[in-house]
Amino acid sequence: MNLIRRPRRNRQSAVIRDMVQETRLSVTDFILPVFIMEGQNLRSEVSSMPGIYRYSLDLLFNEIQECVDLGVKTFDLFPNLPESRKDKYATESYNPDGLYPTAIRAIKERFPDVVIMTDVAMDPYSSDGHDGIVENGKILNDPTLEVLGKMALAQAQAGANIIGPSDMMDGRVGYLRQVLDEGGFHDVAIMSYAAKYASAFYGPFRDALDSAPKFGDKKTYQMNPANSREALIEAQLDFEEGADFLMVKPALAYLDIIKLLNDNFHLPIAAYNVSGEYAMIKAAAQNGWLDGERAMMESLMAIKRAGANVILTYFAKEAARYLLKNN
Ligand code: PBG
Repeated sequence: MNLIRRPRRNRQSAVIRDMVQETRLSVTDFILPVFIMEGQNLRSEVSSMPGIYRYSLDLLFNEIQECVDLGVKTFDLFPNLPESRKDKYATESYNPDGLYPTAIRAIKERFPDVVIMTDVAMDPYSSDGHDGIVENGKILNDPTLEVLGKMALAQAQAGANIIGPSDMMDGRVGYLRQVLDEGGFHDVAIMSYAAKYASAFYGPFRDALDSAPKFGDKKTYQMNPANSREALIEAQLDFEEGADFLMVKPALAYLDIIKLLNDNFHLPIAAYNVSGEYAMIKAAAQNGWLDGERAMMESLMAIKRAGANVILTYFAKEAARYLLKNN
């Protein structure tokens, strides 16, 4: 056949394929979410996330060191707290001597060059398991902002570099920016969970933190998975309120949203490859149903191709190892 265009010419050898490759993953793309817990010399595996552990602070240091050695240098911390520390107003979230600020201080002291991203939301500290203050079954928006502000300030005072509001209350990015600036923390960045959907894929994360809502669901504050134009409204607001990064969450079922934000905003776009997305690949790989390593790299590549240049992923360490071995 006399074909002028033969796309296969550019696929005929590994060298040519590499030359024309449009997207490349780098270890610098990754942020590793890590679960911390109280106590000493403790490490407990999250049953729905094989290979992912909750660490007491002393053991977390080893984990961070191993990651740093592999080139992963940004960590997003999440606290697993006993029920006894939780209350209706998440007061433990801004206790300067609590687990979370203590962990930030200790990590920054030991690893000054590591970047610490935090989580700002009430759920790990809330006896209701919701991201905001609950009254008569409703999640209150404006009163919640005050708690979020205190939490973010405690995190910044402890040395956090990037504040990550994951709560989806209206107006929180602007509110946090103001609180941080008034506290003198102009250099502390905000990575807003701009388009965060009410997703089934957060299940394993809630196991990790014992943070599932005690009643109802999160649909009055997290977005409806059916909507994409609404993501532009959320992103626009967060941009105007001063966000430094815009995040889409989850990632794999929302690649169109990643592309939408990347096409429309000039801030760095992040995507959160969430716990359920990790669990699916791990479960299938453990059953021998697919090649877990290849599925991991293909997923991460797809997230980057869609337009995310920052990827929060539980695969960060494993993918870093893969990249070292295969590049
Ligand atoms: C809650 C929060 C969630 C995640 C990060 N922060 C879960 C939720 O909204 O219930 C999910 C992360 C994951 O599934 O990996 N503020």
